[in-house]
Amino acid sequence: MKQDMIVVLDLGSTRNTDVARAVRALGVYSEICNYDITKTQLLSMPNVKGVVANGGPNDTVNGVKIRLSDEIKNSKLPVYTFDYEEGGKINEMPLAESDIAEKLRSFVFDTCKAQANWTTENFIADQVELIRRQVGDKKVLLALSGGVDSSVVAALLLKAVGKQLTCVHVNHGLLRKGEPEQVVKVFKDQLDANLVYVDATERFLTKLENVSDPEQKRKIIGAEFIRVFEEEARKLDGIEFLAQGTIYPDIVESGTKTAKIVKSHHNVGGLPDDLKFELVEPLKMLFKDEVRACGSALGLPDGMVYRQPFPGPGLGVRCLGAITRDRLEALRESDAILREEFARAGQDRKVWQYFTVVPDFKSVGVRDNARCFDWPVIIRAVNTVDAMTAEVPEIPFALLQRITKRILAEVKGVNRVCFDLSPKPTATIEWE
Ligand code: XMP
Repeated sequence: MKQDMIVVLDLGSTRNTDVARAVRALGVYSEICNYDITKTQLLSMPNVKGVVANGGPNDTVNGVKIRLSDEIKNSKLPVYTFDYEEGGKINEMPLAESDIAEKLRSFVFDTCKAQANWTTENFIADQVELIRRQVGDKKVLLALSGGVDSSVVAALLLKAVGKQLTCVHVNHGLLRKGEPEQVVKVFKDQLDANLVYVDATERFLTKLENVSDPEQKRKIIGAEFIRVFEEEARKLDGIEFLAQGTIYPDIVESGTKTAKIVKSHHNVGGLPDDLKFELVEPLKMLFKDEVRACGSALGLPDGMVYRQPFPGPGLGVRCLGAITRDRLEALRESDAILREEFARAGQDRKVWQYFTVVPDFKSVGVRDNARCFDWPVIIRAVNTVDAMTAEVPEIPFALLQRITKRILAEVKGVNRVCFDLSPKPTATIEWE
């Protein structure tokens, strides 16, 4: 790593991530470290230019108040200490709106004399070198879902080790319209990657027949995914590395020494013991916007880089109750119409997540002067920062009318379109 670094030392702040992001926004790389890091460990990190000692309300661990250690205080590195009052202040306001931002800027550039060399191009160059060093002439395997993180990992590894990488794309039959085709087009046709495309639709849908409990559906989809991936991995000889799209929030949210676990971090876990690979995780220090920038710089299409979040179980948790093929088709088609119209109206960059849901009940309608008994389609559109809470944004009524008209005209078996106005809480974003 050639870039200068400012360490954010977690002394109990709830805003370590925001401080690290604020430093990175200045063009200087920053990492969050635990309060008990030793001077030797700190100085062994590459190009550390200074430390932000980041105090806050979680400053008591196991009944002991934590503080900046004397050995770090007395190291030659400049230390900027947020006193508790300042710690309180940053807990309340965005760093873009406080005088802390100016103090931080002055500390980073005037005191630490750090270079603003944290750029996407430098990151890619560094990672290409690190990946080549780690992998040597060995082979790497990647489960390529087509989501932002795995796609960017694939593009980065392709640049670093080319044909030593094998990507496995498992189509579980619950992907959105056009997604598997896009993965094949971008990675096989355009980037000339070794891509194993597995159409496991029948296998997944058969396993899911008559299963209506959402958690059971999730378990079946997750377990079956691992089995299919495992089978493909066994067919390939001499693979020693497994690449994963772990990103920085996955690590931070797994808990620091002062903060509770937000969610446990999991990627392709659950592979049997005899299939243990060494992990390659080149994005593990990037925030999501940095991952996207990296993807764009590597030439991935906007549609892939700015893709909205999509749950692992895919359409499986939007085709409510026991999945049937006809309702799944209605879901996929209505979702495609929604996405197309949102993109045309420029809503795709304004709304965080938007999709349709098809419940497992029918309602009465009238079509061609005759009574019909068909499914409703529910439109869900939310904005959120962290998916823990969510709001429903105002969507232009004319757009909703246009989408409704198209769904009713083009999607078989649907006679009614509804719009879900519920925030989270009390509703969740997904219906299952
Ligand atoms: P909820 O419905 O809990 O969703 O408000 C919050 C966010 O998480 C996504 N989500 C999932 N993602 N596997 C995933 O990878 C899942 O089982 C899953 N369930 C929900 C959801 O799409 C939303 O972005």
